[in-house]
Amino acid sequence: MSKTIIISNRLPLQIKIEEDEISVSQSVGGLATGMKSVHEDGDSLWIGWSGLTEEEITDTTRDKVQKEIEKNKCAMVPLSEDDVDHFYYGFSNKTLWPLFHYFMEYTTFEQENWESYKRVNQKFADVVLDHVEDGDTIWVHDYQLLLLPNYIKQKKPDTNIGFFLHIPFPSYEVFRTFPWREEVLEGMLGADLIGFHTYDYERHFLSCVRRLIHLETNFNEISYDDRIIKVDSFPMGIDYDKFYNAALAHENMNGDEKSDIQKRLDEHLYSSDDAKMILSIDRLDYTKGIPNRIKAFEYFLEKYPEYQQKVRLIMLAVPSRSNVPQYQLLKRETDELVGRINGKFSTVSWTPVWYFYRSLPFDNLIDLYTSCDVAMITPIRDGMNLVAKEYVATRVKQDGVLVLSEMAGASKEMNEALLINPNNFEAIADKLKQALEMPKEEQKERITSMQARLKRYSVEKWAEEFFTALNTSKTVRNTIVSK
Ligand code: ADP
Ligand code: G6P
Repeated sequence: MSKTIIISNRLPLQIKIEEDEISVSQSVGGLATGMKSVHEDGDSLWIGWSGLTEEEITDTTRDKVQKEIEKNKCAMVPLSEDDVDHFYYGFSNKTLWPLFHYFMEYTTFEQENWESYKRVNQKFADVVLDHVEDGDTIWVHDYQLLLLPNYIKQKKPDTNIGFFLHIPFPSYEVFRTFPWREEVLEGMLGADLIGFHTYDYERHFLSCVRRLIHLETNFNEISYDDRIIKVDSFPMGIDYDKFYNAALAHENMNGDEKSDIQKRLDEHLYSSDDAKMILSIDRLDYTKGIPNRIKAFEYFLEKYPEYQQKVRLIMLAVPSRSNVPQYQLLKRETDELVGRINGKFSTVSWTPVWYFYRSLPFDNLIDLYTSCDVAMITPIRDGMNLVAKEYVATRVKQDGVLVLSEMAGASKEMNEALLINPNNFEAIADKLKQALEMPKEEQKERITSMQARLKRYSVEKWAEEFFTALNTSKTVRNTIVSK
């Protein structure tokens, strides 16, 4: 029976080894959480990196790791320490990630890292080729694997290959600065269908294909050798029912079942009649606009002092890529800003910002989503941002307000949110006030229409539409070849 092979750099599970014992946790990030639901429900094999380097896996632990991987319908691509340094931290996260998010001043172009990127993409191809059988469908994900579609297509021309980019595709003016631009475009063009979150990313890609490798494009189709490659936008959804049902169960929880975090949240909520909580959740990443958010909140407390002691920002930052210097600087800057604002405004009974720098279990995420009156999501640039969608899905009483950056892909589908430019503190402060004072009726109207859309366009639907388009693209190719 044919299967789907999902390939991403990170597997949905993260394995750690301590004293010959392995521990397993869930991977963080939109790709992993979104695709996990698709993988669990379907007949698929997921190929990727376990989070461990080859040097970390000993003879005693190899079997245990392998069993855990297989139990989760996965297969592992072995990465060495050198691969992790140059391919993962180096090319993926010091070159492609900042460049594609328009942080050109953070982008480095190192030949050694590029060589490693090519080598590791080839390693992924080798593992895929070991597992692929006739009739299988291949779905490659994200910026760490831009060369992989072509590596597979070269060896298995008849296999149907989809590629989806989970981050923005930058405009031509930015992409043209990239030294290996032609190779990367050709790598992606190994796929039969190339998907993006938004129409803007799609048209940037098409423009680069036209202007940099001079291929003919016809609306959203590219002619390349004897193939027609389709390009389209598929805004990724969430597992709506999972979040909604978890929030419903949370509503019916009794006192003894509450987590410590929930009890602390309750203390603030019940401290006065009009106490409010504002939530932000992200990986600690410079694209997420965390310093801007804290500064805007500080400005809000200065501009509207009547809110001091009444409102609290609950900020969850999940550790991420901490070997990259820019992430270490961001950690320091965030710690300092939280310290500054808390030092400036705190009283004996109130601290304006509660800051958690750790990964929390799913149930605690639900505690946070369901307890906070406002979600304040202010990325400087973000491919989609699933946290915004998850917050809305958990509002089972149809209350709550989403303040969302226009720079997040999600803003294209969430017009009922209060949209802000993350660099405009004046506007953020005003929208925050509007959010905190929004009448219940208006909250309900906005949340209800966003929920209806999220429920309709769930992650399952997203995957289904991608597969349907991929199967159609195969038909187009067969027609051309048989002519
Ligand atoms: P990004 O993909 O850039 O990290 P998104 O907002 O699109 O940003 O996705 C973040 C995802 O990570 C969300 O699905 C969120 O639920 C998930 N997440 C956040 N914190 C945790 C955590 N502690 N454990 C597991 N998943 C988490
Ligand atoms: C974003 C990227 C994913 C990545 C995730 C977590 O969601 O699009 O590809 O897996 O961040 O980052 P990490 O570097 O820890 O895999």
